[in-house]
Amino acid sequence: MKLLIIGSGGREHAIAKKCVADPQVTRVFCAPGNPGMQQDGIELVAIAETDHQLLIEFAIEHQVAWTFVGPEVPLLNGIVDDFQAAGLQIFGPSKQAAMIEGSKAFAKEIMETNQIPTAAYRSFTDSLEAKAYIAEKGAPIVIKADGLAAGKGVVVATTVEEALDAVTAMLEQNRFGDSGAKVVVEDFLAGEEFSLLAFVKEDKVYPMVIAQDHKRAYDHDLGPNTGGMGAYSPVPQISQDIVDQAIREVLHPAAQGMIDRGTPFVGILYAGLIATDEGPKVIEFNARFGDPETQVVLNRLDSSLPAIISALLANQEPDIVWNDRASIGVVLAAEGYPEAYQTGSVVPTKAPKTAQLYYAGVADDDQNGLLSANGGRVMLVEVTASDLASAQTEVYRVIDRLSLDGLFYRRDIGDKALRLSREA
Ligand code: AMP
Ligand code: GLY
Repeated sequence: MKLLIIGSGGREHAIAKKCVADPQVTRVFCAPGNPGMQQDGIELVAIAETDHQLLIEFAIEHQVAWTFVGPEVPLLNGIVDDFQAAGLQIFGPSKQAAMIEGSKAFAKEIMETNQIPTAAYRSFTDSLEAKAYIAEKGAPIVIKADGLAAGKGVVVATTVEEALDAVTAMLEQNRFGDSGAKVVVEDFLAGEEFSLLAFVKEDKVYPMVIAQDHKRAYDHDLGPNTGGMGAYSPVPQISQDIVDQAIREVLHPAAQGMIDRGTPFVGILYAGLIATDEGPKVIEFNARFGDPETQVVLNRLDSSLPAIISALLANQEPDIVWNDRASIGVVLAAEGYPEAYQTGSVVPTKAPKTAQLYYAGVADDDQNGLLSANGGRVMLVEVTASDLASAQTEVYRVIDRLSLDGLFYRRDIGDKALRLSREA
C-alpha cells in the first residue's frame, strides 16, 4: 500500500513515520514535506499543498491507496472535496466541515446549537460595538480574530486597555487581514488547558490520549503566543473523569451537530479545552492533528495508524490501542520566532537512540550536505519513557548535548504536570 501525506511540518513527519512503520505500507510520500523526513524513509514530492490538481495527478499516477492531510489550509481550500470528485480516497473533513476550525463564529454557533460548554462570547464586525461590550464586561477577557491566524490571532487581555487595543488592531488597522475582519470576544476561562483529539467518521468518535501544549514562546508561559513550543502526554493533572466528560459533552455533540447541519465531519477533530471549576469548556476546535501534540500522542499509539485510517475509510471498526508510557516533545525554534526569525543555522541531525527527531522548518544546506533552519519552528526532540519525570530528564539531557546556534527552546516543558502531580 502506498500513501500520500500532505504538509511539511513536524506533525506530518510524525504521521508519515507512523505510516512507514507498518509493514503493509510499501511507500510513504509527503508533499511537499521537508528534507529532514528523508532520514526516516519518507519520500518527498515537490508539489505545494495548495496545488490540488498536481497532487491528484500524482496520487493517480502512483496508485496511492489514500491521502492524509496534515494542515488546515488545504482542508479549508477544499482539498478533500477535490480528491473525492476525482474518485480518490482521502481522510479529512470537507471544506464545509473544516469551517469548525476556519471560522471561530461558526464554531461558536455549532457549540451554541448543541449545548457544548464554551466561554460566553459575542462576535463583532463593528469596532465601537466590540469596545462597548468589552467596557461592560471588564478584564481579563479574550479577543480572537475570526479566521485562521496560525495560532497568533488570540489576545488574552489582562486589562481593558489591552483588549481595546486588540480590537483596534484587528477591526480598524486590519492587522490580520480578512481573518480579523470579524472578532470574537469571549470570557476568560481559568483552569488547566488540554488537547483532546479524536478520529471521527461522521457519528463514530474514537478519542485519543490527551496532551498539553505550551503556546507561549518563553518559559513560565511568558511571551507571545506561538503555534506551540512543546507538548507532553499523559496530562496527569486532568482526571479521566474530566476527559470522559469532555468526550461526552464536547466530542459526541460536535460530531452529531455537524451531521445535523448537513456537513458531517470526517477526519481528526481537535478540541482545545480548559478544565474549569464547572467542567471542561472549549476554547477552540481544529479540523486536523495538532502540532506539536501529534509528535507525542502518536508515540502512545500501539496500533498501526494507517490500519486505523484504512478501517475508517472502509466503514469498519478500527483497532485502537494506547499505551501507558509518557512522551515529551520540545520544539527547537529559530531565534526571533514567532516574529521575524533568523534562518540558515545548522540543524542537528544526530541524537542518542532514546530520542526521536521530527523536522519542520529545515532545508538542505548545499554547502555541507547538512540541514539548515528555514522556518520558525525548526524541529522537535521527543523522548518516550515509562513516566513523565524520566522522559523530561532524558529529553533535556539529549538537547543539552546538541549544538544549537541560532535556535532556542523552552526549558520547562512538562514542569507543570510534574509540579501539580507532586502537589496532588
Ligand atoms: P487558541 O488559538 O484559540 O488556542 O488560543 C491561544 C491560547 O489562548 C490558548 O491556548 C489559551 O492558552 C488562550 N485562550 C484562548 N481562549 C481562552 C479563554 N477563553 N480563556 C483563557 N485562555 C484562553
Ligand atoms: N498546537 C496547537 C495547534 O496545533 O493548533
